[in-house]
Amino acid sequence: MNNGDTHSPVLDAQQAEAFAGSKCLITGGAGFIGSHLAEGLLANGASVVVLDDLSGGHRENLPKGTSLIEASILDDSALREAMAGCRFVFHQAAMVSVPESVDKPRECVEMNVDGTRRVLQASQELGVKRVMFAASAAAYGGDPTLPSRETHAPDPWSPYAATKITGELLLRTWSMCYGLSTVSLRYFNIYGPRQDPKSAYAAVITAFMDRVARGDVPTILGDGLQTRDFTFVRDVVRANLLAASSPKDLKGEVFNIGTGSASTLLDVLAAIAAAAGREIEPGFAEPRAGDVRHSCADIARAREVLDYQPMTSLEAGLAMTYESFLRDASGRQEGVA
Ligand SMILES: NC(=O)c1ccc[n+]([C@@H]2O[C@H](COP(=O)([O-])OP(=O)(O)OC[C@H]3O[C@@H](n4cnc5c(N)ncnc54)[C@H](O)[C@@H]3O)[C@@H](O)[C@H]2O)c1
Repeated sequence: MNNGDTHSPVLDAQQAEAFAGSKCLITGGAGFIGSHLAEGLLANGASVVVLDDLSGGHRENLPKGTSLIEASILDDSALREAMAGCRFVFHQAAMVSVPESVDKPRECVEMNVDGTRRVLQASQELGVKRVMFAASAAAYGGDPTLPSRETHAPDPWSPYAATKITGELLLRTWSMCYGLSTVSLRYFNIYGPRQDPKSAYAAVITAFMDRVARGDVPTILGDGLQTRDFTFVRDVVRANLLAASSPKDLKGEVFNIGTGSASTLLDVLAAIAAAAGREIEPGFAEPRAGDVRHSCADIARAREVLDYQPMTSLEAGLAMTYESFLRDASGRQEGVA
Protein backbone atom coordinates (compact mmCIF):
# COMPACT_ATOMS: atom_id res chain seq x y z
CA MET A 1 0.00 0.00 0.00
CA ASN A 2 1.37 3.40 -0.94
CA ASN A 3 0.97 5.51 2.17
CA GLY A 4 2.53 8.61 0.64
CA ASP A 5 5.49 8.61 3.00
CA THR A 6 7.76 10.61 0.76
CA HIS A 7 7.01 14.27 0.99
CA SER A 8 7.64 16.54 -1.92
CA PRO A 9 11.38 17.21 -2.08
CA VAL A 10 12.17 20.90 -1.72
CA LEU A 11 12.95 22.61 -5.02
CA ASP A 12 13.13 26.30 -5.74
CA ALA A 13 10.57 27.86 -8.10
CA GLN A 14 12.89 27.79 -11.11
CA GLN A 15 13.74 24.12 -10.59
CA ALA A 16 10.10 23.17 -10.07
CA GLU A 17 9.15 25.01 -13.27
CA ALA A 18 11.06 22.39 -15.27
CA PHE A 19 8.44 19.81 -14.30
CA ALA A 20 5.16 21.73 -14.32
CA GLY A 21 3.05 20.37 -17.16
CA SER A 22 5.86 18.18 -18.50
CA LYS A 23 5.50 14.49 -19.14
CA CYS A 24 8.09 12.17 -17.57
CA LEU A 25 8.78 8.48 -18.05
CA ILE A 26 10.05 6.33 -15.21
CA THR A 27 11.23 2.90 -16.30
CA GLY A 28 10.92 0.54 -13.33
CA GLY A 29 8.60 3.08 -11.70
CA ALA A 30 6.57 0.45 -9.82
CA GLY A 31 9.66 -0.45 -7.80
CA PHE A 32 10.99 1.04 -4.60
CA ILE A 33 12.96 4.08 -5.83
CA GLY A 34 10.87 4.60 -8.99
CA SER A 35 7.61 4.89 -7.05
CA HIS A 36 9.10 7.57 -4.77
CA LEU A 37 10.33 9.37 -7.86
CA ALA A 38 6.78 9.25 -9.25
CA GLU A 39 5.53 10.95 -6.07
CA GLY A 40 8.22 13.62 -6.28
CA LEU A 41 7.46 14.38 -9.93
CA LEU A 42 3.69 14.50 -9.43
CA ALA A 43 4.18 16.81 -6.43
CA ASN A 44 6.04 19.17 -8.74
CA GLY A 45 3.32 19.26 -11.38
CA ALA A 46 4.63 16.67 -13.87
CA SER A 47 2.53 13.98 -15.48
CA VAL A 48 4.07 10.55 -14.97
CA VAL A 49 4.11 7.45 -17.13
CA VAL A 50 5.64 4.27 -15.74
CA LEU A 51 6.94 1.44 -17.90
CA ASP A 52 7.36 -1.60 -15.69
CA ASP A 53 6.97 -5.32 -16.34
CA LEU A 54 6.13 -5.84 -12.63
CA SER A 55 8.83 -8.51 -12.35
CA GLY A 56 9.97 -6.93 -9.09
CA GLY A 57 7.69 -3.94 -8.56
CA HIS A 58 4.04 -3.73 -7.57
CA ARG A 59 1.10 -1.86 -9.05
CA GLU A 60 0.08 -0.81 -5.50
CA ASN A 61 3.34 1.13 -5.15
CA LEU A 62 2.23 3.64 -7.77
CA PRO A 63 0.86 6.94 -6.51
CA LYS A 64 -2.56 8.04 -7.75
CA GLY A 65 -2.35 9.85 -11.05
CA THR A 66 0.42 7.70 -12.57
CA SER A 67 -0.24 5.81 -15.81
CA LEU A 68 1.24 2.36 -16.00
CA ILE A 69 2.27 0.56 -19.16
CA GLU A 70 2.93 -2.99 -18.12
CA ALA A 71 5.77 -4.08 -20.41
CA SER A 72 9.49 -4.61 -20.55
CA ILE A 73 12.06 -2.04 -21.63
CA LEU A 74 13.12 -4.74 -24.10
CA ASP A 75 9.80 -4.20 -25.94
CA ASP A 76 10.64 -1.35 -28.34
CA SER A 77 7.09 -0.52 -29.32
CA ALA A 78 5.87 -0.33 -25.69
CA LEU A 79 8.94 1.75 -24.84
CA ARG A 80 8.20 4.22 -27.62
CA GLU A 81 4.52 4.38 -26.73
CA ALA A 82 5.42 5.16 -23.10
CA MET A 83 8.05 7.72 -24.08
CA ALA A 84 6.07 9.67 -26.68
CA GLY A 85 5.96 13.35 -25.71
CA CYS A 86 8.23 12.92 -22.66
CA ARG A 87 10.58 15.68 -21.60
CA PHE A 88 12.55 13.62 -19.08
CA VAL A 89 13.29 9.91 -18.72
CA PHE A 90 14.33 8.41 -15.38
CA HIS A 91 15.75 4.98 -16.17
CA GLN A 92 15.42 2.81 -13.06
CA ALA A 93 14.42 -0.58 -14.53
CA ALA A 94 17.14 -3.18 -14.15
CA MET A 95 18.07 -6.61 -12.96
CA VAL A 96 18.85 -5.29 -9.46
CA SER A 97 20.14 -8.33 -7.63
CA VAL A 98 23.88 -9.01 -7.50
CA PRO A 99 23.49 -12.77 -6.79
CA GLU A 100 20.95 -13.10 -9.63
CA SER A 101 23.39 -11.36 -11.97
CA VAL A 102 26.07 -13.92 -11.04
CA ASP A 103 23.63 -16.77 -11.78
CA LYS A 104 22.27 -15.23 -14.99
CA PRO A 105 24.95 -13.04 -16.62
CA ARG A 106 23.41 -13.25 -20.11
CA GLU A 107 20.03 -12.01 -18.91
CA CYS A 108 21.73 -9.34 -16.82
CA VAL A 109 23.62 -7.96 -19.83
CA GLU A 110 20.50 -8.13 -21.99
CA MET A 111 18.44 -6.26 -19.46
CA ASN A 112 20.94 -3.75 -18.06
CA VAL A 113 23.09 -3.09 -21.13
CA ASP A 114 20.88 -3.69 -24.15
CA GLY A 115 17.85 -2.41 -22.20
CA THR A 116 19.71 0.82 -21.45
CA ARG A 117 20.80 1.10 -25.10
CA ARG A 118 17.14 0.80 -26.15
CA VAL A 119 16.09 3.49 -23.68
CA LEU A 120 18.79 5.82 -24.98
CA GLN A 121 18.06 5.19 -28.63
CA ALA A 122 14.33 5.79 -28.19
CA SER A 123 15.04 8.92 -26.08
CA GLN A 124 17.25 10.38 -28.78
CA GLU A 125 14.81 9.56 -31.58
CA LEU A 126 11.80 10.92 -29.68
CA GLY A 127 13.49 14.19 -28.68
CA VAL A 128 13.73 13.65 -24.90
CA LYS A 129 15.46 16.57 -23.17
CA ARG A 130 17.49 14.55 -20.64
CA VAL A 131 17.90 10.96 -19.41
CA MET A 132 18.76 10.21 -15.78
CA PHE A 133 20.25 6.75 -15.14
CA ALA A 134 20.20 4.74 -11.89
CA ALA A 135 23.89 3.85 -11.70
CA SER A 136 25.38 2.13 -8.68
CA ALA A 137 28.10 2.36 -6.04
CA ALA A 138 28.76 -1.27 -7.01
CA ALA A 139 31.03 0.34 -9.63
CA TYR A 140 33.64 0.81 -6.88
CA GLY A 141 33.77 -2.88 -5.92
CA GLY A 142 36.51 -3.36 -3.35
CA ASP A 143 38.24 0.00 -3.93
CA PRO A 144 40.00 0.50 -0.59
CA THR A 145 40.41 4.28 -0.98
CA LEU A 146 37.54 5.93 0.84
CA PRO A 147 35.50 7.97 0.42
CA SER A 148 34.85 6.78 -3.14
CA ARG A 149 35.26 9.44 -5.81
CA GLU A 150 33.94 9.35 -9.35
CA THR A 151 37.56 9.66 -10.58
CA HIS A 152 38.51 6.30 -9.03
CA ALA A 153 38.98 3.42 -11.44
CA PRO A 154 35.95 1.13 -11.59
CA ASP A 155 36.35 -2.31 -10.04
CA PRO A 156 33.32 -4.46 -10.91
CA TRP A 157 32.92 -7.50 -8.67
CA SER A 158 29.80 -8.87 -10.38
CA PRO A 159 28.01 -8.88 -13.73
CA TYR A 160 25.59 -6.42 -12.12
CA ALA A 161 28.40 -3.93 -11.40
CA ALA A 162 29.89 -4.39 -14.88
CA THR A 163 26.54 -3.69 -16.55
CA LYS A 164 25.94 -0.57 -14.45
CA ILE A 165 29.37 0.80 -15.45
CA THR A 166 28.62 -0.07 -19.08
CA GLY A 167 25.31 1.79 -18.75
CA GLU A 168 27.20 4.91 -17.69
CA LEU A 169 29.50 4.59 -20.70
CA LEU A 170 26.51 4.24 -23.02
CA LEU A 171 24.97 7.41 -21.58
CA ARG A 172 28.21 9.29 -22.19
CA THR A 173 28.37 7.88 -25.73
CA TRP A 174 24.80 8.95 -26.52
CA SER A 175 25.68 12.46 -25.38
CA MET A 176 28.87 12.62 -27.42
CA CYS A 177 27.64 10.90 -30.60
CA TYR A 178 23.96 11.83 -30.72
CA GLY A 179 23.68 15.01 -28.64
CA LEU A 180 21.32 13.54 -26.02
CA SER A 181 21.75 15.11 -22.56
CA THR A 182 22.35 12.37 -19.97
CA VAL A 183 23.33 12.00 -16.30
CA SER A 184 24.37 8.94 -14.29
CA LEU A 185 23.60 8.95 -10.58
CA ARG A 186 25.57 6.35 -8.63
CA TYR A 187 23.25 5.44 -5.80
CA PHE A 188 24.80 4.21 -2.58
CA ASN A 189 22.69 2.08 -0.15
CA ILE A 190 19.19 3.49 -0.50
CA TYR A 191 16.54 2.75 2.11
CA GLY A 192 13.05 3.93 2.93
CA PRO A 193 9.38 2.98 2.91
CA ARG A 194 8.24 0.32 0.42
CA GLN A 195 11.68 -1.24 0.03
CA ASP A 196 11.22 -4.86 -0.84
CA PRO A 197 12.60 -7.01 2.02
CA LYS A 198 13.95 -9.40 -0.66
CA SER A 199 15.99 -6.61 -2.27
CA ALA A 200 19.73 -7.23 -2.48
CA TYR A 201 20.31 -3.63 -1.35
CA ALA A 202 20.04 -2.48 2.25
CA ALA A 203 17.93 -5.57 2.80
CA VAL A 204 19.65 -5.46 6.15
CA ILE A 205 17.38 -2.59 7.18
CA THR A 206 14.11 -4.28 6.30
CA ALA A 207 15.43 -7.56 7.76
CA PHE A 208 16.28 -5.82 11.05
CA MET A 209 12.90 -4.08 11.11
CA ASP A 210 11.06 -7.30 10.47
CA ARG A 211 12.80 -9.02 13.42
CA VAL A 212 12.42 -6.04 15.74
CA ALA A 213 8.72 -5.62 14.93
CA ARG A 214 8.12 -9.30 15.77
CA GLY A 215 10.10 -9.02 19.02
CA ASP A 216 12.77 -11.41 17.65
CA VAL A 217 16.54 -11.00 17.94
CA PRO A 218 18.04 -9.44 14.80
CA THR A 219 21.15 -11.17 13.47
CA ILE A 220 24.22 -9.25 12.37
CA LEU A 221 26.50 -11.03 9.90
CA GLY A 222 30.02 -10.24 11.14
CA ASP A 223 30.93 -7.89 13.97
CA GLY A 224 28.49 -5.09 13.05
CA LEU A 225 31.33 -2.64 12.49
CA GLN A 226 31.17 -2.84 8.70
CA THR A 227 29.98 0.47 7.26
CA ARG A 228 27.71 1.68 4.49
CA ASP A 229 26.57 5.07 3.26
CA PHE A 230 22.85 4.58 3.96
CA THR A 231 20.84 7.15 2.04
CA PHE A 232 17.17 7.95 2.50
CA VAL A 233 15.10 7.56 -0.65
CA ARG A 234 13.76 11.12 -0.51
CA ASP A 235 17.32 12.41 -0.99
CA VAL A 236 17.69 10.25 -4.08
CA VAL A 237 14.46 11.67 -5.49
CA ARG A 238 15.80 15.15 -4.91
CA ALA A 239 19.08 14.28 -6.67
CA ASN A 240 17.12 13.09 -9.70
CA LEU A 241 14.98 16.22 -9.82
CA LEU A 242 18.04 18.45 -9.46
CA ALA A 243 19.82 16.57 -12.26
CA ALA A 244 16.81 16.81 -14.58
CA SER A 245 16.20 20.51 -13.94
CA SER A 246 19.85 21.61 -13.98
CA PRO A 247 20.45 24.37 -16.56
CA LYS A 248 23.99 23.01 -17.10
CA ASP A 249 24.91 21.23 -20.31
CA LEU A 250 25.17 17.69 -18.93
CA LYS A 251 26.73 15.04 -21.15
CA GLY A 252 26.98 11.77 -19.32
CA GLU A 253 28.52 13.11 -16.10
CA VAL A 254 28.63 10.62 -13.25
CA PHE A 255 27.67 11.68 -9.71
CA ASN A 256 27.83 9.82 -6.42
CA ILE A 257 24.53 10.07 -4.57
CA GLY A 258 24.93 9.22 -0.91
CA THR A 259 25.19 11.13 2.34
CA GLY A 260 28.97 11.37 2.49
CA SER A 261 29.10 9.66 5.87
CA ALA A 262 29.41 6.03 6.81
CA SER A 263 27.33 4.26 9.45
CA THR A 264 27.99 0.88 11.01
CA LEU A 265 25.32 -1.80 11.20
CA LEU A 266 25.40 -1.27 14.97
CA ASP A 267 24.50 2.42 14.36
CA VAL A 268 21.58 1.30 12.21
CA LEU A 269 20.33 -1.08 14.86
CA ALA A 270 20.64 1.58 17.55
CA ALA A 271 18.56 3.99 15.45
CA ILE A 272 15.90 1.30 14.85
CA ALA A 273 15.89 0.54 18.60
CA ALA A 274 15.31 4.25 19.27
CA ALA A 275 12.46 4.30 16.72
CA ALA A 276 10.94 1.19 18.34
CA GLY A 277 11.40 2.70 21.80
CA ARG A 278 13.28 -0.24 23.33
CA GLU A 279 16.71 -1.76 23.81
CA ILE A 280 17.79 -4.42 21.33
CA GLU A 281 20.58 -6.97 21.79
CA PRO A 282 21.50 -8.45 18.39
CA GLY A 283 22.82 -11.93 17.70
CA PHE A 284 25.98 -12.33 15.61
CA ALA A 285 26.74 -14.83 12.83
CA GLU A 286 29.54 -15.47 10.32
CA PRO A 287 30.11 -12.63 7.82
CA ARG A 288 28.95 -13.22 4.24
CA ALA A 289 31.79 -14.06 1.82
CA GLY A 290 32.49 -11.38 -0.78
CA ASP A 291 30.87 -8.50 1.11
CA VAL A 292 32.70 -5.18 0.93
CA ARG A 293 33.80 -4.12 4.44
CA HIS A 294 33.40 -0.35 4.08
CA SER A 295 31.61 1.94 1.65
CA CYS A 296 31.18 5.70 1.67
CA ALA A 297 30.52 8.30 -1.03
CA ASP A 298 32.41 11.49 -1.66
CA ILE A 299 29.54 13.74 -2.74
CA ALA A 300 31.58 16.88 -3.51
CA ARG A 301 30.90 16.68 -7.26
CA ALA A 302 27.12 16.36 -6.81
CA ARG A 303 27.20 19.24 -4.31
CA GLU A 304 29.16 21.46 -6.65
CA VAL A 305 27.46 20.74 -9.97
CA LEU A 306 23.91 19.79 -8.94
CA ASP A 307 23.68 21.67 -5.64
CA TYR A 308 22.72 18.31 -4.10
CA GLN A 309 22.88 17.82 -0.40
CA PRO A 310 21.40 15.06 1.71
CA MET A 311 18.67 16.35 3.99
CA THR A 312 17.68 13.32 6.05
CA SER A 313 19.70 12.02 9.01
CA LEU A 314 19.98 8.27 9.54
CA GLU A 315 17.89 8.56 12.72
CA ALA A 316 15.09 10.53 11.04
CA GLY A 317 15.09 8.35 7.93
CA LEU A 318 14.99 5.11 9.91
CA ALA A 319 12.22 6.44 12.16
CA MET A 320 10.06 7.24 9.08
CA THR A 321 10.90 3.89 7.53
CA TYR A 322 10.08 1.96 10.72
CA GLU A 323 6.77 3.76 11.15
CA SER A 324 5.80 2.93 7.58
CA PHE A 325 7.03 -0.67 8.01
CA LEU A 326 4.72 -1.12 11.01
CA ARG A 327 1.79 0.41 9.13
CA ASP A 328 2.35 -1.87 6.14
CA ALA A 329 2.77 -4.92 8.41
CA SER A 330 -0.54 -4.19 10.15
CA GLY A 331 -2.16 -3.66 6.71
CA ARG A 332 -0.87 -7.09 5.65
CA GLN A 333 -2.30 -8.68 8.80
CA GLU A 334 -5.70 -7.06 8.28
CA GLY A 335 -5.61 -8.33 4.69
CA VAL A 336 -5.02 -11.87 5.92
CA ALA A 337 -7.73 -11.81 8.60
N1 LIG B 1 18.14 0.31 -3.89
C1 LIG B 1 19.44 0.64 -3.91
O1 LIG B 1 20.09 0.78 -2.85
C2 LIG B 1 20.15 0.85 -5.22
C3 LIG B 1 21.53 1.11 -5.21
C4 LIG B 1 22.19 1.31 -6.42
C5 LIG B 1 21.49 1.29 -7.62
N2 LIG B 1 20.15 0.98 -7.61
C6 LIG B 1 19.45 0.97 -8.89
O2 LIG B 1 18.26 1.74 -8.78
C7 LIG B 1 17.25 1.20 -9.63
C8 LIG B 1 15.96 0.99 -8.85
O3 LIG B 1 16.23 0.04 -7.80
P1 LIG B 1 15.16 -0.35 -6.69
O4 LIG B 1 15.90 -0.57 -5.43
O5 LIG B 1 14.02 0.60 -6.73
O6 LIG B 1 14.73 -1.78 -7.23
P2 LIG B 1 13.26 -2.40 -7.49
O7 LIG B 1 13.47 -3.83 -7.79
O8 LIG B 1 12.34 -2.01 -6.39
O9 LIG B 1 12.81 -1.63 -8.82
C9 LIG B 1 13.17 -2.06 -10.12
C10 LIG B 1 11.92 -2.03 -10.97
O10 LIG B 1 12.25 -2.37 -12.32
C11 LIG B 1 11.25 -3.22 -12.83
N3 LIG B 1 11.81 -3.99 -13.93
C12 LIG B 1 12.72 -5.00 -13.85
N4 LIG B 1 12.99 -5.47 -15.08
C13 LIG B 1 12.24 -4.73 -15.97
C14 LIG B 1 12.09 -4.72 -17.38
N5 LIG B 1 12.77 -5.60 -18.17
N6 LIG B 1 11.27 -3.82 -17.93
C15 LIG B 1 10.55 -2.94 -17.15
N7 LIG B 1 10.66 -2.92 -15.82
C16 LIG B 1 11.50 -3.79 -15.22
C17 LIG B 1 10.81 -4.07 -11.65
O11 LIG B 1 9.52 -4.65 -11.84
C18 LIG B 1 10.84 -3.05 -10.53
O12 LIG B 1 9.59 -2.39 -10.39
C19 LIG B 1 17.84 -0.06 -10.25
O13 LIG B 1 18.34 0.26 -11.53
C20 LIG B 1 18.98 -0.42 -9.32
O14 LIG B 1 19.99 -1.14 -9.97
C21 LIG B 1 19.47 0.77 -6.44
